[in-house]
Amino acid sequence: MRVSIRRARSDDVDFLVELVTHEDVEPFLAAVRPKDAASIAAEIERSEAEPEAFGVFVIEVDGERAGVMRFERTNRRSRIADLGGLAVHPRFRGRRVADEAARQLQRHLFDDLCFHRLQLEIYGFNERAQAHAERVGFVREGVRRKAYWRHGQWVDGVLYGLVAEDLSGSS
Ligand SMILES: CC(C)(COP(=O)(O)OP(=O)(O)OC[C@H]1O[C@@H](n2cnc3c(N)ncnc32)[C@H](O)[C@@H]1OP(=O)(O)O)[C@@H](O)C(=O)NCCC(=O)NCCS
Repeated sequence: MRVSIRRARSDDVDFLVELVTHEDVEPFLAAVRPKDAASIAAEIERSEAEPEAFGVFVIEVDGERAGVMRFERTNRRSRIADLGGLAVHPRFRGRRVADEAARQLQRHLFDDLCFHRLQLEIYGFNERAQAHAERVGFVREGVRRKAYWRHGQWVDGVLYGLVAEDLSGSS
């Protein structure tokens, strides 16, 4: 099995819409995350136009579309990127595809785009994604208690961070 990541293209829109609206994906993504074709197409255009500030990446397994992940620069001066929108299609689950893809994106963001800090937030009920984040090195930094109205109740947001020193020992 070969896992790779690449920037999303306009011909990925149908796959991405099917993925992010899937019943075993949508409940775990931020409620505010765009999930319609027009919004996803606009995100892909931004990813191509501003590659250092924003990125939508397709995860491939043996050359077949299998998932998605994205980043957005949220602090230029301190070189911080927010990660989000990670999803692996249920057809490809159970092989830790997301772990390998996340490590590749980390390398791209630290080594090629020179970010210093990556951060993300996961719903408190999403234990699977929290276990994934911790496997790939993210440090749990805190909890936004009952921050989001999701599935008819207030749910926590768990905050994770990874800094360049965590991987390389340098600054
Ligand atoms: C999170 C996600 C990307 C991980 O995908 P993946 O790399 O294919 O992960 P896998 O299916 O291989 O599962 C990884 C591990 O989590 C375990 N796991 C499954 N459900 C779990 C749960 N509820 N709690 C803890 N671990 C769980 C699996 O057993 C597996 O461990 P193992 O290899 O020791 O058996 C995928 O589950 C997904 O797309 N989820 C929906 C969207 C989502 O939650 N995105 C994150 C938003 S912040």
